[in-house]
Amino acid sequence: MCGIFGYIGKQKTAPTIVLDGLKALEYRGYDSWGVAVVPVQQSGKQTIVVKKKAGKIGNATVTELPSGTLAFGHTRWATHGGVTDINAHPHLDCTGTIAVIHNGIVENYETLKAGLIKKGHRFVSETDSEVIAHLVEEYLKRFTVSARDAAPAFSKAVQAAFNDLDGLNAIILINTQADEMVAARNGSPLVVGFGNGENFLASDPAALLPHTKQVHYLEDNEMAVVSRGGIHIFDAKTGRRIRPRKQQLTWTAKEAEKGTFPYFMLKEIFDQPGMLSEIAAESTQQAMLLAHELNTAPRIYIVGSGTSGYAARSASYLFATVAQKLTNWSSPTEMHHHIDLLPPGSIIVALSQSGETMDLMEVVKRAKNNGTKVMSLVNVVGSSLWRMADLTLPIGAGPEKGVASTKAFTAVVAQLILMAHAMKNDVKTGQRLVASAAKAAKEALKPERIDQLKRIAHELKAVEHIFVIGKGLSYSTALESALKIKEISYIHAEGVAAGELKHGPLALVTKGVPCIVYAANDMHYQSTLANAMEMKARGGYIIGVSHKPDEVFDEYIPVSDVGEATIIPNVIVAQLLAYYLTIERGFDPDMPRNLAKSVTVK
Ligand code: AGP
Repeated sequence: MCGIFGYIGKQKTAPTIVLDGLKALEYRGYDSWGVAVVPVQQSGKQTIVVKKKAGKIGNATVTELPSGTLAFGHTRWATHGGVTDINAHPHLDCTGTIAVIHNGIVENYETLKAGLIKKGHRFVSETDSEVIAHLVEEYLKRFTVSARDAAPAFSKAVQAAFNDLDGLNAIILINTQADEMVAARNGSPLVVGFGNGENFLASDPAALLPHTKQVHYLEDNEMAVVSRGGIHIFDAKTGRRIRPRKQQLTWTAKEAEKGTFPYFMLKEIFDQPGMLSEIAAESTQQAMLLAHELNTAPRIYIVGSGTSGYAARSASYLFATVAQKLTNWSSPTEMHHHIDLLPPGSIIVALSQSGETMDLMEVVKRAKNNGTKVMSLVNVVGSSLWRMADLTLPIGAGPEKGVASTKAFTAVVAQLILMAHAMKNDVKTGQRLVASAAKAAKEALKPERIDQLKRIAHELKAVEHIFVIGKGLSYSTALESALKIKEISYIHAEGVAAGELKHGPLALVTKGVPCIVYAANDMHYQSTLANAMEMKARGGYIIGVSHKPDEVFDEYIPVSDVGEATIIPNVIVAQLLAYYLTIERGFDPDMPRNLAKSVTVK
């Protein structure tokens, strides 16, 4: 959930390098931020200097920090302790010579803290994370024999402290004696960046792109000692050295920036036509291989959280209607009752933009323990889910930094359309549909459509509730559309299966309540219009999204009919409406309150 960035090298502007890295990661958590530096030179006893503040980074600087060549920083998504300056990371030990930044939850921190207080340690924050700094301080006393062995003693102290922690955590520590960063990971992501005379640590590879594309993803219970001269990886339990698994990042720094767009979300919405064209034209070899695996599996479960969950639901429709393959879908947290019942040879398809969603990783680990084959469709190649899976397919969306997922959704749906048709040995039809969806996406982004959606957003900006209905694939569209609206504009939006209206939700439709109706040109078209009429008869304001107008629509938004790929331009309408509603209401579409881009805690 948190942004982590560390630098060690020859540049004395380490604090600013770190702050720039944090800005590139702020979408991962933005309750507070902080930077710590080991000053280049200090008279007398050297201590670490920290600047940390509640709130977003915004236009803050760290020019008042001393120059240094070793620094790290953190953007926080609060778990233990309120959003305050004191609770922001980094946290120091009693001496001010050890600093820690942390992502995750130390489940046994109360016990550890009580023991440390008994030994005289003084705590200043309400966080679980601060315990780590004092634990290392305690071990360092035990392991330090002379100043000469400061570095090995420090990494040993971090290793010992890390092994005392219960829960899923990623930690990085620095201290004034050992000229290095020491990191350890169990659960929350950490990636090491190999530079030239300088090295890096980050919680997300996108932040490393301006500096290096050579990375090593830390696995669970791996540690890294990162000095300016080199990087050593070892097993946190046994101390055994591990050869770094160097990987080359395929994204460019430019792809990870918003350019002239005011927000990442708008840039990523506009990335979609080009991205979809690329997906339509890419090699289908891997998709066909995976399709064969799916065809032969006795049971398939497609699993994902949030937006990825709605993509999973759409796959259930696609595989059934296109490939006549019965496919279950579930969110990870609702999967536990079924996972042990999957017959041998079943496949779990894990969908995730980040490849780090903790709920999903828990399910995947359990599936693998059961011998179930795992296929992952993720955006971040090299992520935990990518490395855990038996079969993988990159969804090819490029870096997605807006917390509200947009192009990752349409990319994974496009890949699922290709796979559904590949399962019928007709991948070319899938490619044609995705190429048509790219054109329909471009139409959905035309100036006249943008103007129309801006006007609708202006008209709806003060409403409290919005209903979104659809059937079949359009029900997945309705759910994803409602999520987009609620998570960034904070208007309560509810996705409803059109056929379910009469079973309850219709009671809430009163005069003027906006109802977005997805009426795709499929078997549900007429009945969906009838459901729209039921809402209109109760005073609902009907916003029709369809291939043709209809008298039931008070507002009509045209979307081209591209068969089962119509879900793609349909969702783009909702992405834009959600974005403009958010702007109208004065909120930040990239960093909505209480949320983060990657949910790496349970
Ligand atoms: C979507 O807009 C949200 N940010 C959220 O629901 C997200 O889709 C979910 O947390 C899953 O993330 P993942 O795709 O990285 O696994």
